[in-house]
Amino acid sequence: MIINKIGTNLKDIETPELIIDLDILDANVNTVSKAYSNSHLKMRAHTKNLKSPYLARRQVEAGGSNGGVCTAKVSEAEVMVEGGFKNILIANQVVSDDKIERLCSLAKFADMKVGIDNIDNLNNLSKFAIKHNVILGVLVEINTSMFRCGVRSSDYAVELAKRAIELEGINFKGVMSHQSIKDYTTEEERWKIGEEYIDICLESKRAIEEAGMDVEIVSTGETFTFDIVLKYPEITEVQGGTYALMDLNYPYMPFDIAVKVLSTIVDIYDDKITIDAGNKCIAAPNNATPLIEGVKSDLVEMGLDYSVHKILDGKKYNIGDKVYLLTTHEDGLMNRWDKFVGIRKEIVEGSWDILGRGCHH
Ligand SMILES: Cc1ncc(COP(=O)(O)O)c(C=O)c1O
Repeated sequence: MIINKIGTNLKDIETPELIIDLDILDANVNTVSKAYSNSHLKMRAHTKNLKSPYLARRQVEAGGSNGGVCTAKVSEAEVMVEGGFKNILIANQVVSDDKIERLCSLAKFADMKVGIDNIDNLNNLSKFAIKHNVILGVLVEINTSMFRCGVRSSDYAVELAKRAIELEGINFKGVMSHQSIKDYTTEEERWKIGEEYIDICLESKRAIEEAGMDVEIVSTGETFTFDIVLKYPEITEVQGGTYALMDLNYPYMPFDIAVKVLSTIVDIYDDKITIDAGNKCIAAPNNATPLIEGVKSDLVEMGLDYSVHKILDGKKYNIGDKVYLLTTHEDGLMNRWDKFVGIRKEIVEGSWDILGRGCHH
């Protein structure tokens, strides 16, 4: 069954539907292109967010990119290699033998790099790279703030870099870090926190160089430091994820929300509307609340196939009206859907599979 065909007007779209506004996506990727095209550093888009080689290509072709992408998982990397990408960083640790074998098999088709923070894992990567006769690039991951992965000291970063250089099948490429910001109040504070985190990564980079090794890649970042990284000549690439599709979590950054769930109002009672989009088609991790676009609203209840929202600013709706539901996590939202519908100026331009959906391995 084909619904929401090319040329369908927004008002006639069957709901619920995952919509990407392609004009907004273009504006977001062009903001990065403008900032990075004539800069010393380049974007290496993180495709865990948009999960689509088609969309990743738009990011790369916009400019300001080094042509490579990041993934979080081996299975996401498989999707991107199949989608034609030749330069991939798995910005994460790959530790099980089975996944390392799959990583080696990808290295026959693409320049594969992976994060490391542990000597046993590094030795294992080398063992399988030799077995499969491939070279795996490695970047020492530096913990700067998240305490999930990454080395906690520059001494250990140096030790790992030395070992990587000694090992067969391994090509030491550099360092990487990723950080997140939680509470802050002013722009100065955002910059201060971003700089503090990035400095921790650079401390390890410099320690490796002082120990006599070359560091070719310094890969860091995310959406909240997209502008801060520009002041560091030593950073070579930026792992931007959310910026392309955006969500409610980064209202302070110069990007707009391109991905939304179009939903129909099926019931109205007083100031509450019930819409046909619920938990199955929206993602809201950490108890953050999805909102209706363009009005002040509060989530009253999130069912699986519906949700109830209280409209706080008096706006009146009719049953059958359509509203956009905005998410606090575009990555999780994309993972809920098999396809997205791309629109431009309220007309459907196409519909594409989300090939990286469900890539948990
Ligand atoms: C290692 C790594 N790099 C980059 C990103 C992208 O961050 P953001 O979505 O804030 O741009 C993530 C997101 O979780 C990540 O885990």
